Amino acid sequence: MSLSQKLDMIPKSMIRRLFDLASGVKDIISLGIGEPDFDTPENIKEYAKEALDKGYTHYGPNIGLPILREAIAEKLKRDNNIYADPEKNIIITVGANIGFLMSLSSFLKPGEEVLIPSPAFVSYAPATILAGGVPVEVPTYEENEFKVNVDDLKKYVTEKTRAIFINTPNNPTGTVLTRKDLEEIADFAVEHDLIIIADEVYEYIVYDGFKHFSIASLNGLFDRVITINGFSKTFAMTGWRLGYIVAHEKFIDKMVKLQMYTVTCPVTFIQYAAAKALRDKRSWEAVEKMRREYNRRRLLVWKRLNEMELRVFKPHGAFYIFPNIKKTGLTSQEFTEKLIRDAKVVVVPGNAFGKAGEGYIRISYATSYENLVEAMNRIEDFLKKHNLI
Ligand SMILES: Cc1ncc(COP(=O)(O)O)c(C=O)c1O
Repeated sequence: MSLSQKLDMIPKSMIRRLFDLASGVKDIISLGIGEPDFDTPENIKEYAKEALDKGYTHYGPNIGLPILREAIAEKLKRDNNIYADPEKNIIITVGANIGFLMSLSSFLKPGEEVLIPSPAFVSYAPATILAGGVPVEVPTYEENEFKVNVDDLKKYVTEKTRAIFINTPNNPTGTVLTRKDLEEIADFAVEHDLIIIADEVYEYIVYDGFKHFSIASLNGLFDRVITINGFSKTFAMTGWRLGYIVAHEKFIDKMVKLQMYTVTCPVTFIQYAAAKALRDKRSWEAVEKMRREYNRRRLLVWKRLNEMELRVFKPHGAFYIFPNIKKTGLTSQEFTEKLIRDAKVVVVPGNAFGKAGEGYIRISYATSYENLVEAMNRIEDFLKKHNLI
């Protein structure tokens, strides 16, 4: 029996393999998973219960509930300087992750290329392949704070290039792009007539006085930017599976069709709860509280890694740090496997995020301060014991 080849083109997740290796090991500390360790704020949970009591238990519109699209439009205006029409420019999705495939499916033709600054979130390349396109990794460098460089983009752009991914704040590096960085990318995109897919799921998790900037808010750019966002990271709602896409209606119309014949609509009572959450100041107080705690952890891990004399870029956003482990002489994969076995600490090898991630590991500090102290002690002992530094 012959099976689909499309899915064979996508490698199995390396992260899964590591988690398999770690499963069942007693006393293990995981700095591998990219999700808030906090519970969803209480007021949001209350809104979900209220929605059930009010009878939000039926199918909703394919594009998403009006109440939620309106609340998102208000937020976009207030925080992102994006003026989106809730009736035409916003679609609600089942998490941000599906948004990449939905967005690419709305415009990509077979064989067209998509630029992916690397290291990058693991879904961009598979989504491109599933949409019939060709992912093209553009390396970014630690020396340049892992910011994508227009000179490098020029080396990879071809006649077939149709789009570029931008992720700020970035997973896995923690890099936050400034308005100036984004203006340079925007000029490049306009020059080559590219669509920009802007993944902004970590927008509220920024430090050191950095402010997130949305590329779609730049003058004249809205029509070529597809902004993807969600509730998972901001409100610690990973299991609720809720996201949204903001774009010109020519893209949204196509995505509505896709949604209609696949998931139908995101869960109705969850959409209601999210709409109420966006308009409730208690949710935003909870976001700020979580951000402060992430920052406390970030500073701890940053200090400890420096004391271990590992070279490490100081992240300004998200909840990841991406130390350079090249001096140990081990590959990212060797390092992580040895670390699990010897020190019982799980991190993710940098090459899981693309070729440019080789020589690095990703540490997620979305876990308790106490866990992080213990994990740093174990990593330090591990490096010393094996003469790796
Ligand atoms: C950069 C980035 N984009 C998107 C997602 C997906 O988020 P969601 O839970 O909304 O699907 C993640 C999750 O780890 C992420 O790190």
